[in-house]
Amino acid sequence: MINSALMNVMTAAAFKAGRGLKRDFGEVENLQVSVKGPGDFVTIADKKSEKTLFEELAKARPGYGFVLEEGGVVEGSDKSHIWHIDPLDGTTNFLHGLPIFAISIGLERDGQIVAGLVYNPATDDIFVAERGAGAYYNNRRIRVAARRDMAEGLIATGIPPLANAKIHPKFKAELSSVMTRAGGVRRLGAASIDLAFVAAGRFDGYWERGLKSWDMAAGLLLIREAGGYVSDADGGQNMLKTGGVCGGNEFIHRQLLDLLKKA
Ligand code: IPD
Ligand code: CA
Ligand code: CA
Ligand code: CA
Repeated sequence: MINSALMNVMTAAAFKAGRGLKRDFGEVENLQVSVKGPGDFVTIADKKSEKTLFEELAKARPGYGFVLEEGGVVEGSDKSHIWHIDPLDGTTNFLHGLPIFAISIGLERDGQIVAGLVYNPATDDIFVAERGAGAYYNNRRIRVAARRDMAEGLIATGIPPLANAKIHPKFKAELSSVMTRAGGVRRLGAASIDLAFVAAGRFDGYWERGLKSWDMAAGLLLIREAGGYVSDADGGQNMLKTGGVCGGNEFIHRQLLDLLKKA
């Protein structure tokens, strides 16, 4: 595990917010739900988790800024540090009683992600990374998978809700191209977990478009610190801006990017 003051702060905040999510997951049928957009839901559990994370992190690191999925941007007095926080990644899974959801916390320092944490309170799985210190899953060091051929690999993706018009046309072509070449394709429904699973070598590769910084900040660092490659879906390094992500080991990342380019 990473035993730094920063990671202790991040894990303490995640465990506290996670206790609330666990309780709410146990009685999800009674939760208050509102609709943000087509196929896009938010519950009182998302909001409570975000409030806890915000309060704990602001207390431990005063002045840092925030990009919060539900609360938006909170400017800090310290302009070099920004937390990117998804208080409940995988809300749709949560609402359907599927134990595949996570808290995702990424810390950006002067434009670089320097710490990341993905915690699933339903399974008590935690993935953490700090820049230069490696990536860990429940205390064990992790590495991306070694498979070099996509035909033997398991590739994950995200499917936009209700065929989101901006993402859908290109995505359909990409999916059909990857489907014909990959050993298997999965859609778990929580981008932060998809990225963490690439870091842990469970998935060989992953791509998605239309993500936000809070979905991916932590996961991008996990993959890099696990020895993997990540870019946006066009091969650039503007993931936080373009919302596209493509990741895997050196070989699968390259093969996946080629397929996306040709699709
Ligand atoms: C969503 C999940 C999903 C991804 C969507 C995200 P949310 O996050 O990560 O896997 O495909 O693009 O918006 O709304 O459940 O936090
Ligand atoms: Ca959401
Ligand atoms: Ca999310
Ligand atoms: Ca969320």
